[in-house]
Amino acid sequence: MPTPIERSLVLVKPDAVRRGLLGEILSRFELKGLVIEALELRTMDAALADQHYADHVEKAFYPPLKEFMTSGPLAAVVLAGDEVIEVVRAMIGSTDGRKAAAGTIRGDFSLSNRENLVHASDSPESAKRELALWFPNLPI
Ligand code: PPS
Repeated sequence: MPTPIERSLVLVKPDAVRRGLLGEILSRFELKGLVIEALELRTMDAALADQHYADHVEKAFYPPLKEFMTSGPLAAVVLAGDEVIEVVRAMIGSTDGRKAAAGTIRGDFSLSNRENLVHASDSPESAKRELALWFPNLPI
């Protein structure tokens, strides 16, 4: 039986939308060969932020993270492709843009661990949870 296509939930964060980097970021994913299966511009509300970041709500950095993530429109994207979860994590680079490698999205365009342009699911389990949260009607 063929391996099912893997999917990841990617958020192109409010800083990227404000800075006009949405096209650049989506283009990198497309040029890599990943497929955009769904795309929606929306503003995250407080309840969705608490659900999306359920693992982080008790952490000291959560209040500023929540304020930032709810500060304006972001692009919620379903990306599909072979080993997409690992591939996208490599393409976005490490959390802190100051330390992310050149050539990655954060390494090329961010100097922050909060305004770091992109969120991407970090495991098949988190992808399943996040996709259900953001795209509950998607037939996956
Ligand atoms: S952890 O604790 O190692 O799991 O955290 P990490 O994976 O590095 O980061 C999880 C998300 O929290 C954001 N983050 C921050 N936001 C605001 N302020 C500070 N100091 C901060 N540190 C980390 C980080 O951008 C991650 O967001 P996502 O959306 O998951 O990429």
